[in-house]
Amino acid sequence: MLHFSHFAGSRIHVGLTGSVACYKILDLCRELLSNDIWISASLTEAGSRFVTTDSLRALGVSPILSSLFEDPDHSFPHLEPAQQADVLLVAPATANFLAKMAWGLADDILSTQVLAFSGPTVAAPAMNPNMWQSAATQSNVATLRERGVTVLEPEAGDVACGEVGKGRLPEVKEIEYNVLRALAPRDMEGMRILVTLGPTREHLDPVRYWSNPSTGKMGAAMATAAWLRGAEVHCVCGPCAVDLPHGIPTTSVQTAQQMYEACTDLWPHQDMACLCAAVCDFRPAYSYTDKIKKDRVPEGEMNFSFAPNPDILYTLGRNKKPFQRLIGFAAETGKNLESEARIKLDRKNLDWIVANRVDRESGGFASEENSVLVLGGAGHADHLGNETKSEIAWRLWDLILRS
Ligand code: C5P
Repeated sequence: MLHFSHFAGSRIHVGLTGSVACYKILDLCRELLSNDIWISASLTEAGSRFVTTDSLRALGVSPILSSLFEDPDHSFPHLEPAQQADVLLVAPATANFLAKMAWGLADDILSTQVLAFSGPTVAAPAMNPNMWQSAATQSNVATLRERGVTVLEPEAGDVACGEVGKGRLPEVKEIEYNVLRALAPRDMEGMRILVTLGPTREHLDPVRYWSNPSTGKMGAAMATAAWLRGAEVHCVCGPCAVDLPHGIPTTSVQTAQQMYEACTDLWPHQDMACLCAAVCDFRPAYSYTDKIKKDRVPEGEMNFSFAPNPDILYTLGRNKKPFQRLIGFAAETGKNLESEARIKLDRKNLDWIVANRVDRESGGFASEENSVLVLGGAGHADHLGNETKSEIAWRLWDLILRS
């Protein structure tokens, strides 16, 4: 999961209702606390049967409320989240609790808090699949969504009662993404952004390929940060394993040619494109349909010739409309980082280029951290150094939005 320091000091109130999935919320609390976010919690009576106040307290969650009465430290416990929290999260949210939220019932600690809270609210349902599909629950969910509550879709799979269907608590990281989105500024609302990420693979035969070590981390960080800030993001991903919020549609590709086709289709509908993918500039001129056998290679020496791949960034730059903005990345070796990057900025008709060295121990491919040089038109130059890729992504968007 990505960490953005922007959220440090924010406050989330978590309401846990009666589901066996309550234990997963402990992981969520740990993850949010490690982002320096303050967490307080309320447990319904049924929720407190599945997780204890002690386990939440041991993680650093405070305060933890479980009764409307009998709590000498809190005179108005039903109002506290409304006064202090930035986001209210109900997770797990049972069918019963969603019904209470939809109907405005206020007969326990958490339902009164929800009713008194006017800020962004997120609910992560968990229940038996029939209960989720029932007309009553679906109608309650629709009512809540109409009122602006973010009700996540439960996951499909095995549920605790032994049935299979849609009703599992959404994955912890998906809940976290949505909570962070509710906390984030909406300064990219309505922007349509294309992001490419990962390597491409150019096959020599069905079992061997030519590629590079890109992991897609920088692109995933750019895409996630933009989505958290309200943008509509579409990712075109080369083969790599990255976690992206479900709210980001993705097109998976293998080769540069496939990436080129996906991007040129999407580009006319975008406000911005941010091409982070490490595209192979060349592909084998000939790709064998059967595996190349070593005993058939004369004297054990293999020779390949390579043909150029299309330059996606250059093509988008050539077809850029006046309202569109284009951001390129450049992975370089050697000392001429700035001059090499400036040549690309001009030649590919970019608004921004983000250049980094990939020949050092830290930074570059597969690393969690990066140091980048950011060049813009009109001689703009900035250096963002020794930070996590998620932090760099957040600050890059700050820079780009400010220009
Ligand atoms: O020229 P160079 O390959 O260094 O440029 C890197 C930038 O161009 C990156 O943003 C990369 O995603 C993009 N690129 C591309 N198509 C290629 C090669 C690179 O879009 N064939």
